Amino acid sequence: MRKKILLQTPTGMHDILPEEQKYYQKIFDVVSEIAKFYHFQRIETPILERTDLFLRSIGLATDIVQKEMFSLKTKGGDSLTLRPEGTAPIARAFIQHGMQNLPQPLKLWYFGPFFRSEHPQAGRYRQFWQFGFEVLGAKSPVIDAQIVQIFFNIFQELKLKNIIVKVNSIGDKACRPYYKKLLSSYLKYRIDELCEDCRRRLKENPLRVLDCKEEKCQRVTYNAPQMIDHLCEECRAHFKEFLEYLEELGLPYQLDTRLVRGLDYYTKTVFEFFEESEKGKEIGALAGGGRYDDLIKILGKQDVPGVGGAGGIERIVSLIKEKAIKWPKEKKVEIFLAQLGNLAKRKSLVLIENFRKEGIPVFESLDRDSLKAQLRLADKLGVRYTLILGQKEVLEGTILLRDMISGKQEVIKLDKVLPEIKKRLKKS
Ligand code: HAM
Repeated sequence: MRKKILLQTPTGMHDILPEEQKYYQKIFDVVSEIAKFYHFQRIETPILERTDLFLRSIGLATDIVQKEMFSLKTKGGDSLTLRPEGTAPIARAFIQHGMQNLPQPLKLWYFGPFFRSEHPQAGRYRQFWQFGFEVLGAKSPVIDAQIVQIFFNIFQELKLKNIIVKVNSIGDKACRPYYKKLLSSYLKYRIDELCEDCRRRLKENPLRVLDCKEEKCQRVTYNAPQMIDHLCEECRAHFKEFLEYLEELGLPYQLDTRLVRGLDYYTKTVFEFFEESEKGKEIGALAGGGRYDDLIKILGKQDVPGVGGAGGIERIVSLIKEKAIKWPKEKKVEIFLAQLGNLAKRKSLVLIENFRKEGIPVFESLDRDSLKAQLRLADKLGVRYTLILGQKEVLEGTILLRDMISGKQEVIKLDKVLPEIKKRLKKS
């Protein structure tokens, strides 16, 4: 029994096996290309941060802080936490490296693993990958809209269809406290109808009651006062302008007055992306984000607005698999280099490097000695040509070229092999 457990990944964590790498690589390629187009610079922060960073930014009353952080004590007695998200670490890096002195707005992106000790279920892992975009030092809603556009572009490039974005505004410190009071007094009258979690939330963070998935809580909040009816003038104008930009871009958005997000650092705009199939509904949001104008101030002293979002890579991969989406094939490997004898192995090592420099992919099996086994492998891999290099060929400065379709074999000069292969690959 112990051995069985020893040989399993920890609960909620998973290997990304070789056959799955193509999905992660494709998402990385699409995200990095789009980041380049919009002039985002890559940043990567440590996997561990001081626990306090997350307590102060994500908020003490959130599920992440109360239930989901993997924390550890160092030998020196510091408390560190495996990062549950990327925005707080980036805000920390911004302050630590004095990035407010760089030309603003500063646009940053990242791609890496994150950790939340959640109850494992569809689309919910304890180690999962995210890509994210953050813009620091810009307060116009046009940037909020551009972030939303960037996520749409990524989903489109990945050939995911029926994507919608749900949007809302959760106000700021000028208008949210009043709304919270209003909501609390509405909910207090109906406290008996709420689930246990929401009774706790009502005291600590009543906004979270709005996005409870329990049906009985949703019944209660159906007629609850809505934040957008109580926004201050500035937040109202910001939200209106944001929606106008989404209209201008022709992006399919839905106003969702229950959308409040699970992290406390947001102000004004919040959004989440969904795919509208059954599978999409089952796995939940593909990406989420919003504006966090007070975050840098909470952590440091500067008044630097921010807005951004992050996408959940496992969820996106599971949709791509479900929809059996195929991308154009990568450059096929058409050449197999077989070798026989030590001298040929040495020459082959060099030849492989020459192929690489010319950008021609080549299979080999340098650790195999049997020519028969190598030819069998070449056949299995379905290459167009196999090059065969033996002791005799090396001494004569030649190499055998075998056409795998016709089975014909010919001798060519070793120093002409690259141009010859290039010519043939161009023809076929
Ligand atoms: P979040 O909504 O907590 O936001 O996470 C972003 C995305 O990560 C989610 O929409 C989901 O796709 C994925 N995700 C979250 N938790 C899990 C999990 N346990 N398993 C699998 N996927 C998961 C943030 O993390 C913010 N930092 C986003 C942001 C950036 N806001 C402003 N800038």
